[in-house]
Parts: sequence; structure tokens; C-alpha cells
Amino acid sequence: MAENFAVPKYWTTLSLVLGFMMLSATGTSLLLPSLGDIESLLLNDTGSINSTSTDYGHIVYEFPAAVLNPTSPNDIVSLILSANNNSAPVSVAARGQGHSVRGQALTSGGVVINMTALIRNGSRIVVSESPSLGSYADVGGEQRWIDVLRATLERGLTPVSWTDYLYLSVGGTLSNAGISGQTFLYGPQINNVYELDVVTGKGELVTCSSKKVPELFYAVLGGLGQFGIITRARISLAPAPKRAKWVRMMYSNFSAFSRDQEHLMAPNGFDYLEGFLLMKQGPLDLSFYPLLDQPRIAALINRYGIIYYIEAAKYYDDSSRKTVDKVVEKTIKGLSFVPEFLFEQDVSYIDFLDRVHTEEENLRSLGLWEIAHPWLNIFVPKSRISDIDSGVFRNILLKQNVPTAVTLIYPMNRKRRGLTLEPGRTPLGRQALPMMVALFTSIELKTCLRGISSLPLEPPCYKHN
Ligand SMILES: Cc1cc2nc3c(=O)[nH]c(=O)nc-3n(C[C@H](O)[C@H](O)[C@H](O)COP(=O)(O)OP(=O)(O)OC[C@H]3O[C@@H](n4cnc5c(N)ncnc54)[C@H](O)[C@@H]3O)c2cc1C
Ligand SMILES: *[C@@H]1O[C@H](CO)[C@@H](O)[C@H](O)[C@H]1NC(C)=O
Ligand SMILES: *[C@@H]1O[C@H](CO)[C@@H](O)[C@H](O)[C@H]1NC(C)=O
Ligand SMILES: *[C@@H]1O[C@H](CO)[C@@H](O)[C@H](O)[C@H]1NC(C)=O
Ligand SMILES: *[C@@H]1O[C@H](CO)[C@@H](O)[C@H](O)[C@H]1NC(C)=O
Ligand SMILES: *[C@@H]1O[C@H](CO)[C@@H](O)[C@H](O)[C@H]1NC(C)=O
Ligand SMILES: *[C@@H]1O[C@H](CO)[C@@H](O)[C@H](O)[C@H]1NC(C)=O
Repeated sequence: MAENFAVPKYWTTLSLVLGFMMLSATGTSLLLPSLGDIESLLLNDTGSINSTSTDYGHIVYEFPAAVLNPTSPNDIVSLILSANNNSAPVSVAARGQGHSVRGQALTSGGVVINMTALIRNGSRIVVSESPSLGSYADVGGEQRWIDVLRATLERGLTPVSWTDYLYLSVGGTLSNAGISGQTFLYGPQINNVYELDVVTGKGELVTCSSKKVPELFYAVLGGLGQFGIITRARISLAPAPKRAKWVRMMYSNFSAFSRDQEHLMAPNGFDYLEGFLLMKQGPLDLSFYPLLDQPRIAALINRYGIIYYIEAAKYYDDSSRKTVDKVVEKTIKGLSFVPEFLFEQDVSYIDFLDRVHTEEENLRSLGLWEIAHPWLNIFVPKSRISDIDSGVFRNILLKQNVPTAVTLIYPMNRKRRGLTLEPGRTPLGRQALPMMVALFTSIELKTCLRGISSLPLEPPCYKHN
């Protein structure tokens, strides 16, 4: 099983999983034998069915027969046992925050487990310490990362590896990878987990780790919910910094941009490192930048068509307050961003980590959050990353004037300490410097769907894009 554990494998198997889901039969009646105590926890009213029939992607729609609102992990065990006892197969899908984009948390005619219901069970974020592990948190699979952050910060501690957006469930991101600008230092979130409680397909509640039932542990991490349901994760913690120096540097030349990104992966530099695209066909959100600078930034983007920027952060606290500016200055020395196009903010650690939430609020207020979100994530080796720029960014998006929403480029090095779970077990494949590019285009579909009063089962314009 261990050799199966590789992030690139997940990215390549994704389409197969979805293909299966889309072909599965539809149906609304569900007759499970011997439901016993959990019968009262199964809902099939239109509202419950409706709200679990799609996800953030708003591309796939599948209607479950019922929704389980568990009061404890034992209710999930009961459901699985009962489903296994059925003469006909019953499909079960865990739903965290439902922020998948291609129906991963949906099931047609089966049971959706509303993981969020477990929150009512009480305190399911417990911070502890042990001589062998140091600080760690035992966290319910249903918990959102924002709540994990708030709870651990109360103790002066923090998880080290993040996603850009924190209103995602722990079980949901650990079923993927959990990637953000800290991955180049610590690996994805699935690399920072000591132990899991998992309800298996046989209905057993199993505690697993790299030492205990490792096949299950490595299958579930990054397993897209196909190998069991995570009810608890033990996550490593470190002392929390107080604040972040948050910088953005703009490039007109992709090779200079990616060369500098790679250079910035060196130790003792930034704590967070990502890259973005700004395209003239927009939409442009320049709210990060001082009002006075926005016109010259817009002019730069117009002049080149595409501007790349490196976003980075250096964390600090009271003891490093006096030296942090020097460290940032030294770290960026010799970089070849466009002169005078370096911008900086100084924010609290939590505001930095929660930065996407501000964007969410903006988009919600514009009615641009609950729309279709086609989204592509790929790992690209260093040797081919410039082909993505010339082939996709320039030759397709720019040339055909395709409006893009967010395009992210994360540098990663699989050889770096922290990226390897154990010798020989690397989640990032064999390339020296794979990079991930996430393309997330939404505007066209928004235009497409506008004017359609009820959401269609098959988005009518999707195929044309
Ligand atoms: C705005 C936005 C920003 C994002 N940013 C990032 C990012 O920066 N980095 C990144 O890595 N990802 C990012 N993602 C992707 C995100 O990590 C995944 O979509 C993740 O699965 C969402 O978590 P969720 O709780 O909404 O999961 P769901 O959509 O509810 O579920 C996702 C999958 O996990 C399974 N699952 C859910 N809970 C459990 C559980 N407890 N046990 C086992 N399986 C479970 C589901 O069955 C499904 O297969 C982003 C998504 C959005 C919408
Ligand atoms: C809900 O389930 C009950 C029995 O469990 C069934 O009689 C009823 O038809 C279901 N309602 C819908 C809308 O499927
Ligand atoms: C179904 O959910 C959508 C949002 O996802 C909402 O707009 C619609 O009104 C809901 N319909 C019913 C019948 O609940
Ligand atoms: C919480 O979960 C435990 C088992 O993990 C269970 O025994 C208990 O009844 C649950 N509490 C509530 C209030 O549902
Ligand atoms: C399985 O079904 C049989 C008969 O339908 C029942 O006696 C038994 O208790 C069920 N077992 C479980 C675990 O639900
Ligand atoms: C899921 O559980 C949460 C928390 O109890 C609740 O607010 C929400 O309505 C539930 N969703 C469904 C579809 O039952
Ligand atoms: C980017 O810079 C490299 C040299 O570093 C140069 O070879 C290349 O032509 C430049 N590309 C563009 C688009 O300006």
C-alpha cells in the first residue's frame, strides 16, 4: 500500500473516481434493515436532500436518498454496518464542508454523512503534549481548520501546514492533500498527521498511524474518502508566531519569476511562498495594494498582458520584531522583480492565514461565490513549467482572451526535509522540483448560468468552455 501513497497518483485518479460517480444509478428510496438507534438521525426532507446534492463546484448534481446527522462516530459505525447488511449495495459519502468541485462528496441514491453534525458532540479539538511528539491536537474530522487555528492559538500553538482557505474540514483536506504556501517547508497537511481514527468499509472504528495499521493510514490520507471515514486526526503543532510580514513582488518575465521562486525555497528565508497570475482580461482585484499604486500596477498588467507575482510571508513575534525587516531585506536581495513593484503589509498571523476569507466575503457580496467553479490542479516538473506559461497561460488564456479568476503556482521540492513522511515514501513524486498550478476559471460559467431560473442538472454551457 505504501507505494500507492503518492500525491500525483491522486491527481491522476481523480477523473476515474468522478467518472464512476457520474455513472452511478439514481434513486430516492432507501430501505436499510435494522437501523435501530440511528433511524431518527436519517433525514430525507427536500431541504436536507437538496443541500447535500451539489458542492462548491456547482457542476455535478446527485441526489442522495437520505442524510445522516451523526451524534458520535458510533452512529457512523451503525450506518456502515447496516448498509453492509443490506441485500443491495448502499453507497455512503462523507461530507465535510462540501467544498469539492466535482461531486466528490455526493452520492446518488445513497446516504450522505453530514460530518458537521458531530460538532454538536462537544469539544472535539483537544490540545496535548507528549515527550515523543511534542505538542499536538486531536481534532474531529468534521472540524474546520479555522476553528482548529483559533483553538490552538489560545494555547500559543498552531498547525504548521495549511490550505489557503480555512473554512474546509480537516477530514476533507486530509482526504486530498492540503496544499498552501507552507508546503515547500513542511509538506502538505497529510504529512503533518500522527494518527487517525477511521471508520472502515467494514464498519470498524480503527486507530491507525505509520506504525499501527499503516496501510489504512496511508490509504486514507489523500484517499478522497474512498478508504474510510476520518473521525479524528492527531495533528502536529508548533509555537505560533504573532505576526507576518506579507510581501508581493511583480514580474513580467515567467522564467525570472520561477527562478526566483525556486531560489526563495532556500532555508531560513520565507515561511510561506506562492505565486499568482494577473491577466489583463481580469477580473483584477488590486485591493492588497495601496490606492495610489493601483493605477501603475494596472498599467503594468496592460502593458505585458500577464504579470506574475510572488507572494511570500515571514512570520515574527516579539523576540524577532526588531530583526524581521532585515531578514526580509536579505531574503529578497538579488531577486529580479520589476523595480519598484514590491509591496508589503504587516498583519497578525491569524489575519494572514485567514486572508482568503476576506475575498470570500467580497465575492459573496457580489453574488460570485455560489456559482459554478471549474477548477484544475496539476503537478508539473520544473523541466516543463515554462511550457505551461507559453502553452497555456499565453497561447490559450491570453491569446483567446479567456477570463480567469485565480491562477496559483506553488513551488515545491520533494527532496526538502519535511516533504518525506519516511524514507522512500514521498508524496510529491520523483521530480526534483514539481510545481503545482491551479487554474480556477469562473467568470464564463457565471455568464452562462445567468438567466437560468432553476439550476440545471447539466450545466448547459460547460461543454463549450
Ligand atoms: C475556496 C476554496 C479554496 C481551496 N483552497 C485550497 C488550498 O489552498 N489547498 C488545498 O489543498 N485545497 C484547497 N481547496 C480544496 C479543498 O481542500 C478540498 O476541496 C477539500 O476536500 C474541501 O474540504 P471539505 O471539507 O469541503 O470536503 P468535502 O467537499 O466535503 O469532501 C471532499 C472529499 O473528502 C471526503 N471526506 C470529507 N470528510 C471526510 C472525512 N471526515 N473522512 C473521510 N473522507 C472525508 C468526501 O467524501 C469527499 O470525497 C479549496 C477549495 C475551495 C472551495
Ligand atoms: C422518506 O423516508 C420515508 C421512510 O423512511 C419514506 O416513507 C418517504 O417516502 C421518504 N420521503 C422521500 C421524499 O423520499
Ligand atoms: C435547493 O437549493 C438551492 C441552493 O442550492 C436553493 O436555491 C433552492 O431554493 C433549494 N430548493 C429547495 C426546494 O429547497
Ligand atoms: C458524544 O460521543 C460519544 C462517543 O464518542 C458518545 O458516547 C456520546 O453519547 C456523544 N454525546 C452526545 C451528546 O451525543
Ligand atoms: C443484519 O440483518 C439481520 C436480519 O435482517 C439482523 O438480524 C442483524 O441484526 C443485522 N445486523 C446488523 C449489524 O445490522
Ligand atoms: C448538518 O449539520 C449541521 C450542524 O448540526 C446543521 O446545521 C446542518 O443543517 C446539517 N445539514 C443537513 C443537510 O442536515
Ligand atoms: C525572460 O528572460 C529571459 C532571460 O532571463 C529571456 O531569455 C527571455 O526572452 C525573457 N522572456 C520574455 C518574455 O521577456
